[in-house]
Amino acid sequence: MSDWTDCLDFGVSIAKQAAEIVLAAFQLQKEVQLKSSPADLVTETDQRVEKILISAIRDRYPLHRFIGEESVAAGERVDLSNDPTWIIDPIDGTVNFVHRFPFVAISIAFTAKKQTEFGIVYSLVEDKLFHAQRGKGAFLNGEKLQASGQKDISRCVVVTEIGAERDDLALSTMTSNIFRLLQLPVHGVRALGTAAVDMCQVATGGADAYYHIGMHCWDIAASAIIVQEAGGVVMDTDGSEFDMMSRRVIAASSTAVANSIAQVVQAFPCRRDDED
Ligand code: IPD
Repeated sequence: MSDWTDCLDFGVSIAKQAAEIVLAAFQLQKEVQLKSSPADLVTETDQRVEKILISAIRDRYPLHRFIGEESVAAGERVDLSNDPTWIIDPIDGTVNFVHRFPFVAISIAFTAKKQTEFGIVYSLVEDKLFHAQRGKGAFLNGEKLQASGQKDISRCVVVTEIGAERDDLALSTMTSNIFRLLQLPVHGVRALGTAAVDMCQVATGGADAYYHIGMHCWDIAASAIIVQEAGGVVMDTDGSEFDMMSRRVIAASSTAVANSIAQVVQAFPCRRDDED
């Protein structure tokens, strides 16, 4: 039975090639289009890089399926079947990319029988390549990663984002959740502007937790397995099992810290990624 290492190696090689295109465009002025909100942006580079990644993978693995941020924006359905599936965000942190704020990532996850087998997050301005394979650990530029193991929420740095949902309910929920986290208290709240890279900070031990509501499966599928393989935990914000389609996530150094966050944050309704 395949352990999908060939696919992982191929994913890493095409992520590195795609990074060259994103880096070449990083300093240039971009043509920007709005998607679902004034904070949900897309550029020609997002669309081009996704097409390049999908066509390279399809040439090599013609039977594999895809969930890609820009393909979904163009009308494709999110359908996570038992078939081998690549979940792709060509540029996570598009607002950062547009503004040249230096945290921008290519995120690629791979599932088979609906289970994530590996994840790749390439934070390309920093030249940090995170990857993890199920049961084989998580790595940053080849060095093994270990989450902090912190169990006491009052000693934690928590990463989060306001997100791209900008209606009144989403904004008031997300800002009051930051207030609640600070009241716990935590040592600090941070935001890098890319869910994938934010969440990888938990895998490095540089942050103890990440929580977000409103992001999509392509933002966090790869970083979820990276956190888990680094010894961290991933769950829904209501304390239930992690579901990458639910648009809610807590990633933490320990179950105790994840539960402390689940107890204080509130959710706002979000349409599931796989809802018709
Ligand atoms: C966004 C980023 C951001 C998060 C948003 C995402 P994109 O992804 O991950 O950090 O707050 O919810 O939509 O649009 O840059 O791929």
